[in-house]
Amino acid sequence: MNSFETIIYEKTPGIAYITLNRPQQLNAVNLQMRDDLWEAITAFRDDPEVRVAIFRGAGERAFSAGADITEFGTAPSQAIARQVRWERDLWGLLLGIDKPLIAALHGYALGAGIELAMCCDIRIAAENTRIGLPEVALGMIPTAGGSQTLTRLVRRGAALEIILTGDRITAQEAYRIGLVHRVVALDQLVPTAEEMARKIMAQGDPALHYAKRAIKQGLDMSIEEGLRLEKLLAAYLWTTEACAEGIKARRKRSK
Ligand code: COA
Repeated sequence: MNSFETIIYEKTPGIAYITLNRPQQLNAVNLQMRDDLWEAITAFRDDPEVRVAIFRGAGERAFSAGADITEFGTAPSQAIARQVRWERDLWGLLLGIDKPLIAALHGYALGAGIELAMCCDIRIAAENTRIGLPEVALGMIPTAGGSQTLTRLVRRGAALEIILTGDRITAQEAYRIGLVHRVVALDQLVPTAEEMARKIMAQGDPALHYAKRAIKQGLDMSIEEGLRLEKLLAAYLWTTEACAEGIKARRKRSK
């Protein structure tokens, strides 16, 4: 299933694959790709047949080399305004999704590329992945959420170093600072992402969604507010059939 110019959207039972597909441009994120991603992510969010999304990059060289720099400074003001709108909404859309999101990274994962991955819940990196946020060198700052998401994933000092130096870090270094969850051989990248997706899907909805929401929203709250949110979500889950079934199944197993 695919009707997009810049991405490939595929569905298998349970898993949706969203592939950035401009390999000649190292999957640089242009305006069209933002539009396409918006459509695909909305479709994924609203489709009960798919429970986890895996993002990946087409071609051998990159997950994505970031925002399309050929569109910088050339667009008429209307288009720039539109670009800003898409940037804000796309990353907000991704961050607001309750379903689990996995990014499978290889090659270059720069700028908006790694920022997209930082909106996901799990990042698996092939050994050849090179990660960086080069915006400051271009007279910009990260605008796909990176200045906020990176500091929520790694310690502040590491985030500052990556953004202020613009250095590209290796997959191993990204693993060491906690930016990626696993580093694997390139040929194991998608299988590892799929294994992770299957493990997550073995858990039930809506508990999965509420657990994600409690963690992500709670991070931006005081501990008191976070505990209130947790209580509220748990109180609702107690009333669900899925919870009753889950407890029944567990009791049966432990007999
Ligand atoms: N936007 C648009 N096109 C890009 C791109 C980007 N962010 N990154 C790479 N490309 C294009 C190149 O222009 C080139 O196109 P061409 O073959 O038509 O000339 C093609 O992808 C291959 O890239 P190239 O630069 O030739 O490969 P390389 O191995 O020499 O270098 C990079 C790879 C990633 C180091 C280099 O392409 C780069 O620095 N890209 C820009 C990264 C960036 O600043 N991104 C963040 C923007 S905020």
